[in-house]
Amino acid sequence: MAKRKKAKKRRTKATAKKSARKVVRLSSARKSAKKANGNGLPRPSNKPYGQAGRALDGLRILDFTHVQSGPTCTQLLAYMGADVLKVERPGAGDITRGQLRDVPNADSLYFTMLNGSKRSITIDSKHPKGTEILNRLIKTCDVLVENFAPGALDRMGLTWEHIHKTNPRMIVASVKGFGPGPYEDCKVYENVAQCAGGSASTTGFREGPPLVTGAQIGDSGTGLHLALGIMAALYQRNRTGRGQKVLCAMQDGVLNLARVKLRDQQRLAHGPLTEYSQYGEGIPFGIAVPRAGNDSGGGQPGWIVKCKGWENDPDAYLYFITQAPVWGAICDVIGEPTWKTDPEYATPKARLPKLKQIFARIEQFTMTMDKFEAMDLFNKHDIPCGPILSMKEIAEEQSLRSTGTVVEVDHPTRGKYLTVGNPIKLSDSPADVRRSPLLGEHTDEILKDVLGFKAAEIAEIKNSGALSAPPKKEKAA
Ligand code: COA
Repeated sequence: MAKRKKAKKRRTKATAKKSARKVVRLSSARKSAKKANGNGLPRPSNKPYGQAGRALDGLRILDFTHVQSGPTCTQLLAYMGADVLKVERPGAGDITRGQLRDVPNADSLYFTMLNGSKRSITIDSKHPKGTEILNRLIKTCDVLVENFAPGALDRMGLTWEHIHKTNPRMIVASVKGFGPGPYEDCKVYENVAQCAGGSASTTGFREGPPLVTGAQIGDSGTGLHLALGIMAALYQRNRTGRGQKVLCAMQDGVLNLARVKLRDQQRLAHGPLTEYSQYGEGIPFGIAVPRAGNDSGGGQPGWIVKCKGWENDPDAYLYFITQAPVWGAICDVIGEPTWKTDPEYATPKARLPKLKQIFARIEQFTMTMDKFEAMDLFNKHDIPCGPILSMKEIAEEQSLRSTGTVVEVDHPTRGKYLTVGNPIKLSDSPADVRRSPLLGEHTDEILKDVLGFKAAEIAEIKNSGALSAPPKKEKAA
């Protein structure tokens, strides 16, 4: 009898709490309606810029990403204020924690530089209790982001149908190597995407083999595409009230970045590509876009020229663009004033077959000064050019530090390290760049604060083995 009374009391308390929450919601809705303009949107904030919170405050991401492509996407969203909960395999975590390790027993820079500003929770997604926790997380999060091999998420039981039924508002965003088609089941890494997306065949020198680039256009490039897709899906959800799937294939992402080469492929049908140095050298074009060395992609011919010190410094070079409107200034600065009026040089068309010779002359001039002196001199005349900066120079560049593009953060086991902050600057949302989490650092915090588990329940979950690595199997003698 006493038990029943207690249970009733508990129920009444719970209902009271629920309706209290309802009241809060309703009254806050009324308040925001009062604050709203006629179009239902809030009135402009009176707070000074940068003090009205962050752009993605209130957005919660269930981050199932690993390696590079997915983590770049969720890190960017975290920088903009999203609460990113990174789910990692107990005992192991994201494989990159241990890859390319420079400091013994500390998370690698590979991991730390791609997972800043996130929280880490370890869950064995194949353990029944783990599945239960994941389902609760799905209910409370807005977006699930993953870049597992094709089929892996389904094998965890997290099919689109299941997720959509559990939380119809959830957006499920995935990176895969290829879209639907002959290669859709393949596992893919960065360089495979660079090759399949048309970048490698068009990068390098004509006489040499295809080349991959240092910029991670397959991984980080696709992560960027995914972030944009997520934002669009969130915006659409405001209208439809429902989530959707967002898919970015790495091949597609690379092709999108290499679109000027697909442009050139089609131009080939109408004649040679006259801005490629190969044209000036009299070498016929084949059936596909060739590698163009350091020719510039646009209609303004460019090349890399040596600067003073190139014999010992592999980065003592300058990218120089012979932009047509400043041709006169170029001629004056390099000491060839007659080229301004000489019909052999005066027009862009006349110059195209002589680009190699023109850049050789420019190089003769740039070799008399270092790349920074050259940059200063040419920019005084509005001539577009750029020094080839080494990563050492970039790491030490103070202007990048002061804009928050390069940020130093402190880490409990590795100490201070540099990371790339948010390259997208929002005037009302300062970037939130924090160190990466240790493996499972926020497991208890997330179970308690996000999912509302009590201490006893957390202890029970821990005992179940859902948060720890399965015991190692004894080796047969
Ligand atoms: N608990 C239990 N199991 C987990 C887990 C967790 N928390 N997190 C991951 N796993 C399991 C997965 O379920 C999967 O198991 P299954 O294949 O038995 O179902 C397994 O870990 C490994 O996943 P997978 O994605 O296949 O890893 P991989 O190391 O073999 O392959 C890639 C790595 C990057 C090649 C592959 O994930 C891929 O092609 N991803 C898509 C493209 C991409 O993003 N590539 C760029 C990466 S930078």
